[in-house]
Amino acid sequence: MVVIADPLLAWRKEFPILGHTTYMISHSLGAMPQRAAGRMQEFADTWASRGIRAWKEGWWEMPVTVGNLVGRIIGAGEGEVAMQQNVSICQSVVTSCFDWSRRRNKLLTDGLNFPSNDYVYHGLARWGARVETVASPDGLTLPVELLLDAIDEETQLVSVSHVAFRSSYVQDLAAIVERAHAVGAMVIADLYQSAGTVPVNVRDLQVDFATGGSVKWLCGGPGAGYLYVRRDLWDRLNPIATGWMAHEEPFAFEGGPIRFAGNAFRFLNGTPNVPALYSARSGYEIINEIGVAAIREKSIRQTTRLIELAEAAGLRVNTPRDPERRGGVVILDVPNGKQVTRELTRREVLVDYRPGAGIRVAPHFYSTDEELERTIGEICEIARTSAVENVT
Ligand SMILES: Cc1ncc(COP(=O)(O)O)c(C=O)c1O
Repeated sequence: MVVIADPLLAWRKEFPILGHTTYMISHSLGAMPQRAAGRMQEFADTWASRGIRAWKEGWWEMPVTVGNLVGRIIGAGEGEVAMQQNVSICQSVVTSCFDWSRRRNKLLTDGLNFPSNDYVYHGLARWGARVETVASPDGLTLPVELLLDAIDEETQLVSVSHVAFRSSYVQDLAAIVERAHAVGAMVIADLYQSAGTVPVNVRDLQVDFATGGSVKWLCGGPGAGYLYVRRDLWDRLNPIATGWMAHEEPFAFEGGPIRFAGNAFRFLNGTPNVPALYSARSGYEIINEIGVAAIREKSIRQTTRLIELAEAAGLRVNTPRDPERRGGVVILDVPNGKQVTRELTRREVLVDYRPGAGIRVAPHFYSTDEELERTIGEICEIARTSAVENVT
């Protein structure tokens, strides 16, 4: 066996759960960095000792100061990312910026989008939006031409995931943005399954909006989503989904229609989720310290290895073979996948299962090669011995 020097393994000691678990589920919930516990304590101490003064001493600005840490990961400039609570809220904010009653009322989505996004879009039909979905021919991938052909002069917004949650398929964002802009449409990219594992640069790509959250590859825990909006669009966008933090002078407590702030605060709404912003910071700092390029290099090596191991064991792989088109997850179509996943959890091998795709297995920068072998070995053993039958 060839032993590969892997400097990223030095990070393992920062993640307590790795001491007793084979953690192959960072596409769903990234492992907690030990230092996040210190941050949460810092929140409690600040609240306890500074009380109301904490707002002026940092809390109020946190949606943007913490957003700057995410901005570095996704290629946004300082002050261009506003932290929200989750992607669903970000979708509501963005789509509420548009007038859906005009002729240009098409909202184009695709069959690989995350369902929560679709729920928001279909609700907009009540305001005149025409939601069109480009189906994925196999439920896992989507030839970019199909999407490009559906973008037309009546399209107001195109919504795609950079990396599909179900199959880890990487979409060609550059081509989609180019076509959308050519016909006067805008693009919102859901980066949840790419940021932190697949390099992405929102400014190079010229996406109009980008959103994502902290739960997965960013190891930031729940309650902190992010919204990037292209700076030159700010003045033109006035979200209906809003609140007093978006006001130019929130502490004037003016009634009547809002006067929007000139900066990224205009996309905020009510009181931010301050504890979540404390806990999320550590993960962002670690991802920035390592750099997504190094994470991606290791991810490609380990997902390639996982595919080799799976295929050698006769398992069907539902993930693109081309590393350029594959995110950080390998999906294995194993019979009784749901039950196998439950048994794996009982054995301290954490993965998850998605209907229509299979068992999702995701190494991250802290994973060892031995853990890849253990995961595939356990799956085969469970399938072979029908251990699933014993699981209720
Ligand atoms: C691509 C993608 N978008 C959105 C979400 C969910 O977003 P939220 O719960 O922050 O609204 C997920 C997963 O939970 C996801 O994988």
